[in-house]
Amino acid sequence: MLADKKILLIIGGGIAAYKTLDLIRRLRARGASVVPVLTRAGAEFVTPLSVSALAGAKCYTDLFDLTAEAEMGHIQLSRAADLVVVAPATADLMGKMVAGLANDLASTLLMATDKRVLLAPAMNVRMWQHPATVRNRAVLADDGVLFVGPNDGDMACGEFGPGRMAEPLEIVDAVAAALGAGPLTGRHVLVTSGPTHEPIDPVRYIANRSSGAQGAALAAALRDLGARVTFVTGPASVPPPAGVQVVAVETAAQMLAAVQQALPADAAVFAAAVADWRVANAAGQKMKKDGSGRAPALEFAENPDILATVSQMDAGRPGLVVGFAAETHDVLAHAKAKRARKGCDWIIANDVSPATGIMGGAENAVTVIDAGGAESWPRMGKDAVGRRLAQRIAEALGRLQAVDDV
Ligand code: C5P
Repeated sequence: MLADKKILLIIGGGIAAYKTLDLIRRLRARGASVVPVLTRAGAEFVTPLSVSALAGAKCYTDLFDLTAEAEMGHIQLSRAADLVVVAPATADLMGKMVAGLANDLASTLLMATDKRVLLAPAMNVRMWQHPATVRNRAVLADDGVLFVGPNDGDMACGEFGPGRMAEPLEIVDAVAAALGAGPLTGRHVLVTSGPTHEPIDPVRYIANRSSGAQGAALAAALRDLGARVTFVTGPASVPPPAGVQVVAVETAAQMLAAVQQALPADAAVFAAAVADWRVANAAGQKMKKDGSGRAPALEFAENPDILATVSQMDAGRPGLVVGFAAETHDVLAHAKAKRARKGCDWIIANDVSPATGIMGGAENAVTVIDAGGAESWPRMGKDAVGRRLAQRIAEALGRLQAVDDV
């Protein structure tokens, strides 16, 4: 899948560099050639010898190495690749890229390249969440730099949270997607996410506790497999991922309109927690207490069911329609009934009763229900659920394509 692709692989200074050795093997196993560059800090973690032995190529380390310059100048090195990958991408390297510094071989190559750059960040949780890194990440994303990970999990420093470098196979997928060879390249996938806000009056609204974390994680994972993602989101507390087309809405009615506008799509996933009802007699002005002690009577009207509407489209229905079922009891029975009633292909069922901590939390435990039955996945981070779901969607679309081709 990566035959004849040339990857310039910059290895930064972090303990995750040991996983980059495996990444080299995985890239080569898919037909890519790897030209490795090891930073001075990177060489504290892995050696030029192991890197070059695995890459089957010279390992470049120094900007002022005359022999290396005579063999291939650093400008040429930066241009000969199809893609530049930085793994692990440290806070320091990201900061240098943002500042435009070029004081060693790696940073100079990153400044001189005319190719896309994919970063696989790895750092301590606090460093990843530091405002400077948050700023740098946003600037780099705006500059068109691609990211894969970091993931949530245990870290070598003993802490837990986002900052673990993506696994080698995830990086390989992101490389393939960046080179237009991902399993979802050329596909359009629509994702709804977050809560909706249904106004009571101009200052008050009815909402729910959805953070939008699962939808955002799924959209990022679909993007990493090469999909063009339209992300229709209500007012979520988790920011939308970079590199997807964001359509921000507030109400269910706006969400339906945005979804219809975004179609056609190869697949549509409805992860949003859409309010079932809106206030039919929403006031045009702020409601006031009138001193009588009587509370205003809100009247409710049912919202359009976006998932059912799209599932039951006669023409232009996406090949794969996926809904979520957040339940607090009898999860499986309700989810199966929901799949039949709404007419979608899959339902992702999860238990959101307060004891699970799933609603608004970092983890999810889901059961995927399709025509073939129910498949329960172990409890894992929402990022991991997103990646696994994106893979499953890619496989299903691949099968649909194969049927179409017959
Ligand atoms: O009926 P319930 O809200 O439990 O259904 C959940 C699924 O239906 C989710 O996938 C949700 O995004 C979708 N939904 C929708 N429009 C609604 C209500 C739910 O798309 N009005």
